[in-house]
Amino acid sequence: MCGIVGYAGRRGAQPILLECLKRLEYRGYDSAGVAIVGQGLQLFKSKGEIAVLESMMPQMAGTAGIAHTRWATQGKPTTENAHPLADCSNGLAVVHNGIISNFMQLREGLLKDGHKFSSDTDTEVFAHLVEAELQGDLSSAVAKALKKVEGTYAFAVVSGDREEIVAARMESPLVVGLGDGENFLASDVTALLKYTNRMVYLQDGEVASITKDSLKIIDANGQAVQREPQKITWSLEDAEKGGYPHFMLKEIFEQPDAIHDSLLGRIESLEPEPFFQGNNFSSVKIVACGTSYHAGMVGKYIIEELSRIPTTVQISSEYRYSPISRESPLVVLVTQSGETADTLGASREARKRGNKTVGIANVVGSAITREVDHTIFTRAGPEIGVAATKTFVTQLVALYLLAMELGTQNRSMTAQARRAMVTNLRNLPRAVQDVLNQAPLIEALANKYASARDMYFIGRGINYPVALEGALKTKEISYIHGEGFPAGELKHGPLALISTESPVVAVAVRDHTYEKMLGNISEVSARGSPVIAIGFEGDSELPKYVDEAIWIREIPPIFSPVPTIVVLQLWAYYLAKARGCPIDKPRNIAKTVTVE
Ligand code: M6R
Repeated sequence: MCGIVGYAGRRGAQPILLECLKRLEYRGYDSAGVAIVGQGLQLFKSKGEIAVLESMMPQMAGTAGIAHTRWATQGKPTTENAHPLADCSNGLAVVHNGIISNFMQLREGLLKDGHKFSSDTDTEVFAHLVEAELQGDLSSAVAKALKKVEGTYAFAVVSGDREEIVAARMESPLVVGLGDGENFLASDVTALLKYTNRMVYLQDGEVASITKDSLKIIDANGQAVQREPQKITWSLEDAEKGGYPHFMLKEIFEQPDAIHDSLLGRIESLEPEPFFQGNNFSSVKIVACGTSYHAGMVGKYIIEELSRIPTTVQISSEYRYSPISRESPLVVLVTQSGETADTLGASREARKRGNKTVGIANVVGSAITREVDHTIFTRAGPEIGVAATKTFVTQLVALYLLAMELGTQNRSMTAQARRAMVTNLRNLPRAVQDVLNQAPLIEALANKYASARDMYFIGRGINYPVALEGALKTKEISYIHGEGFPAGELKHGPLALISTESPVVAVAVRDHTYEKMLGNISEVSARGSPVIAIGFEGDSELPKYVDEAIWIREIPPIFSPVPTIVVLQLWAYYLAKARGCPIDKPRNIAKTVTVE
């Protein structure tokens, strides 16, 4: 996720672009840049946050321009890879939010045609594609270039010889703000509210040309589009979180898109990634902390199911000081920040032991990605809330992809099984959206149980780590004592804690452990505990055993942790809201733990 802004008007563009850009910093903050049309095209960019760009940049005269704040997905967060990206002659510049999934082929073709590249980004190909098509009209050149691009995008393009911005979108947000004698462009309305509240939302496939006193939109068939502006009534403060009261809720609701982005360009090929080709790993060890550890625990089930490779999971701080075994596993380090000290230490230890390492990380250029042999990036975009939500779900996506690589490489997975996996992965955003649509119901239930002091979470098999993660989310942000157990373990001790005062949340989807799970639910309800269950839609048996039920759409059980954890994220969020907790910044917890 990145942030884009544009301005064409009568005032100096530079301060307006910077002001708007700062409101989009939540979308990315590893590098930033500005291109202003004055006497030709002036371009300035830098690594780091917008404040760094602002402190370094010279005065740039000109009344039209574009700017960008980046969250790297392709190419490290360096000054060279920062946007805007220019064509060969620095005559035009492009900013982009999204992923061009066919950029490698496009780049090869452009190199053959003599284009010179100055970055490792997917975006730069678009600057060269427009350059190749430009013969007068910028909108037509952009429209022609777009025909070659696959993936998702919001683009804005300026050329040094005209005060016009051309913009286009496909599955990435882009809005035009209308002013008097000036017009604006941004990834979301929050960036523009200081200047205008009259917005025109661009639709997929549309190309817009924006000047100080005109907005022209054409659709994918080249037809002119007339669209009335909408009046936005949000206050500036509301808008910074996109209208959500907390970043955590916003990030929970971004999960369908985050899953979609994390799959883009990665599931089409039946060939394993080069790193996995020729490597037959006899075992896998997943090492991580906190929520990432829980993702790793789900990953164990997925990897063993799809590749049959024995997999163990260990907490990073435990692995670092554990005895060296005879095995030489593939060590998978899961960390959203890529900077967690214990996981970094574990990665170094794994390499010292001579093991191959794979990182699963959300931050391109983070420490772990520089140390491992191979990285699978989650493409969740920046996560501001301390509680990990969309990074967890995209870590699961990365683990499905990893398991498919391993299963394909060692031939445990047939091409047919792989195709079925791909279909199911593509359906996940919809399954998550179904859960999000039930937020009001989950809030009502959470309000009912928010005064509990203790809460227990149970699940079996692949749903046991989901129970652990539900408990972690609950304790982290609502300060209710939450504990997760494998449901079959209750009778070995935890049942002593169960009382009418302690609600039990049961992940009880219909899988091969379902009957046993119903037995475990009976054990707690017999002791008076209220039971709130998550089950598959259409299950008429579960309501007979539980006090409350939340339903998810029926999907193959190996995928159920994705929608079930979203239920539990909302559950924890609404418990915390009812208790008046500081949701985005829980006490004593830092987003990234860089000390041992
Ligand atoms: O950045 P990492 O994924 O390595 O962070 C690991 C944990 O610190 C993190 O998941 C923590 O448990 C979260 N705050 C939980 O919501």
